[in-house]
Amino acid sequence: MGLYPPSWIGRFKENETVWFATATTVAEARAAEAAGADVIVAQGSEAGGHRGCFDAEQAERLQVGLFALLPAIVDAVRLPVVASGGIADARGIAAALMLGASAVQIGTGFLRCPEAKIPGAWADALAHATPERTVVSRVFSGRAGRSLETDYVRAATAPDAPAAAPYPVQRGLTAAMRKDAQQTNDVQRMQAWAGQSAALAKAEAAETLARHLWNEARSMVM
Ligand SMILES: Cc1cc2nc3c(=O)[nH]c(=O)nc-3n(C[C@H](O)[C@H](O)[C@H](O)COP(=O)(O)O)c2cc1C
Repeated sequence: MGLYPPSWIGRFKENETVWFATATTVAEARAAEAAGADVIVAQGSEAGGHRGCFDAEQAERLQVGLFALLPAIVDAVRLPVVASGGIADARGIAAALMLGASAVQIGTGFLRCPEAKIPGAWADALAHATPERTVVSRVFSGRAGRSLETDYVRAATAPDAPAAAPYPVQRGLTAAMRKDAQQTNDVQRMQAWAGQSAALAKAEAAETLARHLWNEARSMVM
């Protein structure tokens, strides 16, 4: 969610710490390269959860889908670029590699793996979520994040609903509801982060899934 202070970046270099900087726009990718990042993670607006938007106030206006963002960032920087946002199967991985990515990052696609330990109702709802049933809102934390369109999200984003409080106050205001929803397995009030390709997520062991995805994607691009 922005750049590190120059003193930190100097210490990264001294310690040979590799810095993967997230970028949601071409300008952010250029700024991260100029500041000394080693790798750029291009985060398309399809992504589940919060994104690393440098200017949190502009997050809704600056929503760029990965198909446009990825080649634009690949052309704008000299660093390796990791593609992220809406990738959850081998087709998505292969497409990202064709568009110039050096690797991909998958978030939502691993949420149904047993290792993720998310509540059952959330895992089940992901399997049935069409892309248009995920929405970007500030109603959980005060910062823009993409989640399932649940009863709470619908109510809290209705035209007559009060605006979300600033981050992180909204997180505190929703804490009791989110905790109770987890305990009662009620997805309608959960902070159920989800990217637009949620329905592609498979309920498999993470290691098996990663191997399947990579082997299938390789057979598509080679
Ligand atoms: C549960 C969850 C929490 C996330 N939290 C953050 C976060 O705090 N900051 C951030 O930059 N990205 C966050 N992300 C986004 C991921 O870094 C990644 O860009 C995204 O998951 C990729 O898109 P996908 O979900 O469609 O695979 C989160 C994603 C998920 C699924």
